[in-house]
Amino acid sequence: MAVENVCIIGSGNWGSAIAKIVGETTSKHSDVFNTTVRQWVFEETINGEKLTDIINTKHENVKYLPGVTLPSNVVAIPDVVEACKDATLIVFVLPHQFVRGVCEKMKGHFAPNARAISLIKGLEITSDGTRLFSEEISRVLDIPCSALSGANIADEVAREKFCESTVGCTNMQDGAVFHKLFDTPYFRINVIQDHVGVQLCGALKNVVAVGAGLSDGLGYGSNTKAAIIRRGLMEMRKFGQTFFGDVVKTETFFESCGVADLITTCSAGRNRKVAEAFAKTGQPIEKLEAELLNGQKLQGTLTAQEVHEFLSARGMVDQFPLFHTVYRIIYEGLDTQAIVRDI
Ligand SMILES: *[C@@H]1O[C@H](CO)[C@@H](O)[C@H](O)[C@H]1NC(C)=O
Repeated sequence: MAVENVCIIGSGNWGSAIAKIVGETTSKHSDVFNTTVRQWVFEETINGEKLTDIINTKHENVKYLPGVTLPSNVVAIPDVVEACKDATLIVFVLPHQFVRGVCEKMKGHFAPNARAISLIKGLEITSDGTRLFSEEISRVLDIPCSALSGANIADEVAREKFCESTVGCTNMQDGAVFHKLFDTPYFRINVIQDHVGVQLCGALKNVVAVGAGLSDGLGYGSNTKAAIIRRGLMEMRKFGQTFFGDVVKTETFFESCGVADLITTCSAGRNRKVAEAFAKTGQPIEKLEAELLNGQKLQGTLTAQEVHEFLSARGMVDQFPLFHTVYRIIYEGLDTQAIVRDI
């Protein structure tokens, strides 16, 4: 039986943590996988040295995952066409704004029977509809694409602190291969047949985290935050099942990608943190983004706005009171106490 050739597209913080895992699992299951794993790394120069050279000699991504040794069977390659040559399993773990461009370059260079998996957070929501990144990849490359998401803070995963993650697959045969590719004793994979729900959870949780941060900033306690998390989870499920029907399973929300990631995001993470500062200081969100995130846009507030446009276009904002209240507090100047009063 031919072995699977694995290629990782991306090399940031999460991409590096995943490269460590995939390096380990491919070595362990050498009957299934080619033990050489190719990783496309966006080339940068660090103190006069190329990042790919540093990874290939020191086995460390000194810029995005410093202090963690990568398995030596992970080979960094600066050219995406060369990286994906003959690949049968393609792992996408790069910032969403690069997905389309990178896919266009890769077209026709990987194996014809290849399958992809998206670890990209978020989804595009406009008033016209939603587009999942797995769908985008699948459309451009014309191959099936699954998704992986979970309560997985990259640095904790890289330091082998136990967690779980969810693979939402398009068919169970691919699911079984992805289970082998990602499952380790410290990164426990559960496979479900709901790649849509897995990705929805990864995007919508950030809106709930903004609500949780507002509650923290107002000095409300653990009970209040738990109530916001619970209602948030209900609205996440309702959003999925209202707009995607029964392809989105209720069970998905009990997986790591659902309730577990929601809890993590509402206790740590930048969405919670910036929203807490917003409630405490009353400063505009753009100013806080500039101060706390070096001007990067906050995912949760952006998603809240996109969800609002989507729901408004359908006359359904009132059916999602938590999402709606988060939106009105951030963008319409509604008082922050509404986070408990209006939900
Ligand atoms: C394994 O991968 C390496 C590097 O990508 C490649 O040169 C080799 O041909 C592959 N082996 C098999 C059996 O596909």
